[in-house]
Amino acid sequence: MWEQAIMDAVEKTKRNIGLFPMKFPHITAEKRYEWGESNDWIEGFYTGMIWLCYEYTKDPLFRDTAIAQLEDYKARLEEKRHLDHHDIGFLYLPSALASWIVDEHKEGKQLALKAADHLMLRWREEGQYIQAWGRKGDEKNGGRIIIDCMMNIPLLYWAYDQTGDESYKRVAVAHAEKSRRYLMRGDDSSYHTFYFQPSDGKPIGGGTHQGYHDGSTWTRGQAWAIYGFALSYRYTRDLKYLETAVRAARYFNEHLPEDHVAYWDFDVSIEAGTPRDSSASAIAACGMLEILEHLEEEDGNKGLLTDAVEKSMISLVNHYSTIGEAAEEGLIKHGSYYVRGGIGPDDYMIWGDYYYLEALLRLTEGIPGYWYERG
Ligand code: GLY
Repeated sequence: MWEQAIMDAVEKTKRNIGLFPMKFPHITAEKRYEWGESNDWIEGFYTGMIWLCYEYTKDPLFRDTAIAQLEDYKARLEEKRHLDHHDIGFLYLPSALASWIVDEHKEGKQLALKAADHLMLRWREEGQYIQAWGRKGDEKNGGRIIIDCMMNIPLLYWAYDQTGDESYKRVAVAHAEKSRRYLMRGDDSSYHTFYFQPSDGKPIGGGTHQGYHDGSTWTRGQAWAIYGFALSYRYTRDLKYLETAVRAARYFNEHLPEDHVAYWDFDVSIEAGTPRDSSASAIAACGMLEILEHLEEEDGNKGLLTDAVEKSMISLVNHYSTIGEAAEEGLIKHGSYYVRGGIGPDDYMIWGDYYYLEALLRLTEGIPGYWYERG
């Protein structure tokens, strides 16, 4: 079953490359991708999928495409184009670092290091966090952190490992600490965002942007927490991050509906037509597979998380995938980007496709994606 799903993903990715050469998928409201230039936070997932396909098939078309796309990432960084945000890890890990991991592409490694420096520009010393959105001093966003950033800081941990420059690690660890302390709640759920006073970092309160309401648990945010804290554990070996990841995963699993695939927010009322976010479940599956690499055999969470991954991946493959629908561009249906904002509810999400394929390859081949170098 997993192999069939992987082969379907490989074929669809190959077809997309042929139909839309050197273009990147954008989110639309039309249950299809719109193909255009690289100008968002999401392009890395497409390039990452292409690297996953290359690792699985060794078909040079995938490698040549992913390497050619690197020019775009390079130009974007040189021109500082659409990079005024913290999603630099999402962009440069599955593209630039991936090229180094898979193909020993030296230019990719240099590019990933430059991207880490760019992410460092968002460090706010006064508050000891990485500012998510907006420019420094921005009235609305100046004191804002968001849970998604836990997936961006691996770029800094990695840069520290490469260079020995302590500043990358100091920033990554301080940000992880802030996120653990303020974005995670006592019942193991999470805020999407938290605000601090920009001048002195005094905490103000939690909120949301893409979730249902300020105190709700946005399912994708919870999934970013699972995977992000698990990766902080991988890099730092600080057990509190592993514990946070496990607790976030248990919360996620305990609040799933019967078919084991998340709705877009855990606190939204479930009615006919309430959108799912299949991408949250694909991310959570990868996060749990990462956690499973670190748990001792006798840890009771091992069985729980193994079972949870299997159930949600079976559901994604059987009920959400586009297997057998050759003309579809996406891999899993029913993702949701920003439901209250009316953008992409119930649609393909390129990160959903990426993490779905990463989970399938983790399950079958032990290929763990591009968030760290393999030892
Ligand atoms: N990082 C933005 C999102 O998950 O929608």
